[in-house]
Amino acid sequence: MHQVTAEDQHEPGGRVVWVTGGGSGIGRASALAAAAGGWRVAVSGRRPDRVHAVAQEVEASGAEALALPGDVRRVEDVTKSAAAIERRWGRLDGLVLAAGTNTPRRTWSDQDLDELGDIVETNLVSVARVVQLALPHLRSSAGAIVVVSSYAGWRFSPGAGVAYSASKTALASLCETVNAQEAASGVRACHLCPGDVDTDFLAQRPEVPEADARSAMLTPHDIARAVRFVLDSPAYVRVDELVISPVSQHR
Ligand SMILES: NC(=O)c1ccc[n+]([C@@H]2O[C@H](COP(=O)([O-])OP(=O)(O)OC[C@H]3O[C@@H](n4cnc5c(N)ncnc54)[C@H](OP(=O)(O)O)[C@@H]3O)[C@@H](O)[C@H]2O)c1
Repeated sequence: MHQVTAEDQHEPGGRVVWVTGGGSGIGRASALAAAAGGWRVAVSGRRPDRVHAVAQEVEASGAEALALPGDVRRVEDVTKSAAAIERRWGRLDGLVLAAGTNTPRRTWSDQDLDELGDIVETNLVSVARVVQLALPHLRSSAGAIVVVSSYAGWRFSPGAGVAYSASKTALASLCETVNAQEAASGVRACHLCPGDVDTDFLAQRPEVPEADARSAMLTPHDIARAVRFVLDSPAYVRVDELVISPVSQHR
């Protein structure tokens, strides 16, 4: 794997980022923002049509792209994706971990424990899975990891649900352990906590917001700007946590 040099930091065109959940919403916007900054972008997600469409958008913007359909809960999918990135570009400099899920059944009165397990698997264990696999490559590049957590991972948000709150809150610890243990290798993790963002994700709420409520929310582009800021920060800069919410956000 490539060893990071000062030159690389000034030549973003050479750098490679892997975006999970890249087929829609925040992941898609982050993929396009990174591409606009000269990054080469690997896009993954379960729906092949979405993943390929975003890879095509990245290429249409003039950047290189790799479409990697797959499920972050499946170790073989994640392993195949990491191997495909290694074969294609031989390096990895950034991760944007946007794959996530929730359910309308969010309370102790109506939740299903299998569903709780699946949410924790997707939102927490799969983030650890991708980080674990990517770390050897990120150590070589002093790479940056952006963990797309949630406002609910920063402050208790009563409506977010048992499984979602627990899984997203744990991402703060996951980022801190990376930062504590990997400082010597130069790998940095950012716990990125968006408030309400107008994406497909809102369809999982018990009461799906109408257009007027959505118009007061953030857009995926607002979060992608922050992702790009973290990815493009120099190798000696660690952005530990970012909380970004619409002014109307209440807890
Ligand atoms: N929208 C908000 O208000 C908001 C606020 C705070 C945080 N977030 C977080 O932001 C992240 C992105 O959400 P979004 O708002 O952009 O909504 P979104 O468009 O629904 O994005 C979620 C993405 O995750 C992917 N995904 C889900 N399960 C997956 C799995 N098992 N394997 C691979 N990919 C999977 C989905 O693609 P496939 O279904 O094709 O796999 C989808 O592209 C999530 O982690 C969410 O928790 C959202």
